[in-house]
Amino acid sequence: MKMIYLDYAATTPLDSAVATVMHRVEAQFFANPSSIHSAGQQSKVQLEQARQIVATALNAKPDEIVFTSGGTESNNMAIIGTALANRHLGNHIITTKIEHPAVLEPCHYLEQNGFRVSYLDVDRNGMPDLNQLKTLLCPDTILVSVMAVNNETGVILPLDQVQSLLKDTSALLHSDAVQAFGKIQIPGSVDLLSLSAHKIYGPKGIGALYIRKGSRVNPILYGGSQEVHHRPGTENLPAICGFAEAVSRLQHFTVHADRIRGLRDMFEQRVTDLIPGVEINGAGTSRAGEYSNIYFPFMAGDSLLMNLDMHGVAVSSGSACSSGSRKPSHVLDSMGFSGEHVNNSLRFSLGRSTSEEDILKTVDIISMLYKRLKK
Ligand SMILES: Cc1ncc(COP(=O)(O)O)c(C=O)c1O
Repeated sequence: MKMIYLDYAATTPLDSAVATVMHRVEAQFFANPSSIHSAGQQSKVQLEQARQIVATALNAKPDEIVFTSGGTESNNMAIIGTALANRHLGNHIITTKIEHPAVLEPCHYLEQNGFRVSYLDVDRNGMPDLNQLKTLLCPDTILVSVMAVNNETGVILPLDQVQSLLKDTSALLHSDAVQAFGKIQIPGSVDLLSLSAHKIYGPKGIGALYIRKGSRVNPILYGGSQEVHHRPGTENLPAICGFAEAVSRLQHFTVHADRIRGLRDMFEQRVTDLIPGVEINGAGTSRAGEYSNIYFPFMAGDSLLMNLDMHGVAVSSGSACSSGSRKPSHVLDSMGFSGEHVNNSLRFSLGRSTSEEDILKTVDIISMLYKRLKK
């Protein structure tokens, strides 16, 4: 049975061109980029070329890019590193209730260590309360962290408006852009931006943190002086070059964006027409075209997920880590949905290889499951 993969928000398959680059770099540039000899210096050239590619994609300078082990580490560095470097200016951080655990958990850690964290409410569509942000901002606020695209609903958060509110403050703006990069135009106004390669058809275990020049961010790991003292450890050059290749290939795939959005819209339309009471979570606002988070009144999300899996369709309930730990989605909960609504919702996420046939087949399977249960 051919798998229908509708879980691109959890991770994407490795682009074969990226794999080719990684194999070449592994074989040809195994020397340590910190070594003084020629082989080491050749590795260093590869490293800096990769940094340039990522920087260009963000309209940034190469020395503003720090390679990390992925989105989780980038978020940890952005939040804990900024808090520690700026604690002489204040101890208050603002974020939203719908961030990924890779933002929320570092915030909880900081709360246990003398910082004050405010979590913005969101409305029924998952949009943060900007009036609340205005009220909460104070001279003590050193960091505001608002994600660019929510990983469960695909809702695009209003970063430009958040930035405008911060204009007359000294607070830094961080955005977890792990789900946004390669999908939407990222506002250029942020001070810190987290990226991850495995959401853009690159390798797992590699990512980057953009740190605007002049922003004070402490390291969170201690050791060597790699990554301009921001992140010690011998660089994972094949993964870094694979990440850069995935970034440079993004432009070839922009043509897919309209097609994917069209398939997503068709999927939602058909499911809504077929099954009474279905609701699309976050549909009342702008969403990236790859995501569909759907409430199915007829079956618990976990059961539907298992049933779809038995028929070869891979989807998620909430974020990958939440579905692993079977925790109800804090995102949908914060959007004000009932426990039943939260439990009966599933995330479908589409990608480059999703075909019309995949979508039609998935609709057929959901419809069949619905009819079987109705009997
Ligand atoms: C919004 C968001 N932030 C952070 C992460 C963590 O990224 P990584 O898996 O590269 O650590 C994810 C991964 O699912 C995510 O969706």
